[in-house]
Amino acid sequence: MKKKSLKYYKKVFDFNKNFSKSITFYKKYGFVIYKNLIGKNHIQEINFDLRKIISQQYFKYFSDTKTTTDEKLIKLSKKNDKFRERIYKIIQDLPSNKRLCLNKNFYKICKSLKLNAPTIKSNQIRMDLPFSEKFLIPPHQEIKGTKSDNLIFFITALTKTTKDMGAISLYPESFKLGPLIPNTKKDKRYQFVNPKYFKNLSNEKFNLQKGETIFLNMYTIHGSNKNVSEKKIRWSSIIRFEDFSRMPYLDLNDEYLKYDLKG
Ligand SMILES: [Fe+2]
Repeated sequence: MKKKSLKYYKKVFDFNKNFSKSITFYKKYGFVIYKNLIGKNHIQEINFDLRKIISQQYFKYFSDTKTTTDEKLIKLSKKNDKFRERIYKIIQDLPSNKRLCLNKNFYKICKSLKLNAPTIKSNQIRMDLPFSEKFLIPPHQEIKGTKSDNLIFFITALTKTTKDMGAISLYPESFKLGPLIPNTKKDKRYQFVNPKYFKNLSNEKFNLQKGETIFLNMYTIHGSNKNVSEKKIRWSSIIRFEDFSRMPYLDLNDEYLKYDLKG
């Protein structure tokens, strides 16, 4: 696999203008970055809801008004991380979050990749707090618990990700390795890909702008870097689609469990 310049991989495709070229890129490299896949108003709507719920909780325990939304959540988490955890659980159910995965653009992609019968496997808002490593998953493929071998997934930045906030890291073309049985370690929270598979591949890091979406093949080896910013949270939406027309699980075949070891 020949190394391309970072600029080449960083190409951002406008969903409304370069759709067919973007699909060609995706098929070649196992990922593609979009702008305008999700409308600005939808991103705003989610951010508005997040601000509302975090502020509501913050002012029950603190009274200073000059803190940003991110600082508020960081402060709540420092007071007791259960505050963060419970907010995290509840924001998954926001109508603005549910609405995201119904965006017709996702289904246009499904159709063009012959993901004929889409089901929404998950629709998650993710938050990466500064210096929080607990939920960082080492390089992995998106195969844990997947019942279809025709899964695709999307990570959208809900706020601008600066360099210090931790990038999405991936290995272009690594999807060509196909499904790999993951490794596990006693002291590691998540399963991961054995580094021997990617040690010779080029690794690229992506800091998405607000509203940009990275679309990945389920076998593309990826992970995320630590957020080392002072007081900014990396907010993202992760949406996964499976295909019930290609789902051995429905025929009582549980082979998928061999990729579902830990995490
Ligand atoms: Fe992942």
